[in-house]
Amino acid sequence: MTILPIIKHPNEILRQVCLPVPEVDDPMRQLMDDMLETMYDAPGVGLAAPQIGDTRRIIVIDQVREAEEDAKTPLFFVNPEIIWSGQEIGEYEEGCLSIPGVYENVLRPTECKVTYLDYFGKAQQMHCKDFLATVIQHEIDHLNGVLFIDHISRLKRSRAMKKYKKAQSELG
Ligand code: NI
Repeated sequence: MTILPIIKHPNEILRQVCLPVPEVDDPMRQLMDDMLETMYDAPGVGLAAPQIGDTRRIIVIDQVREAEEDAKTPLFFVNPEIIWSGQEIGEYEEGCLSIPGVYENVLRPTECKVTYLDYFGKAQQMHCKDFLATVIQHEIDHLNGVLFIDHISRLKRSRAMKKYKKAQSELG
């Protein structure tokens, strides 16, 4: 497996609407394995294909932060689609591997139902709650060119982006 470079905001690739995948084949499974490895290495709990420069509708998630080798619970979603969202709204402090160092509270539905193709190309449906619901909505946003900073107030965003740009320029 290969650890891939993660694309950072404000790269335009992160703003593209990604394309549906016709089927899940071996090269795509290889890509999903690499995405998972990249996510664990970062470390993060979710990664969408545009974050590694691939504009297809693919995401990987493992809710367990810094999972031990034998405790990993990877989830693979191809063409994920939210078919239902709950009424209740919850707030989580979100971050993103493409906007390192920025953490802001985001409001989202606490429950959603998602249809998708799994690692083997089989059609599946999942009812997501709480943290998983937050992560999957964040990742599906990526497939539509949306970042979590788009969900916060303009004032908070401009403050966060000022800090982010400064930190990025200090990194060179
Ligand atoms: Ni993200």
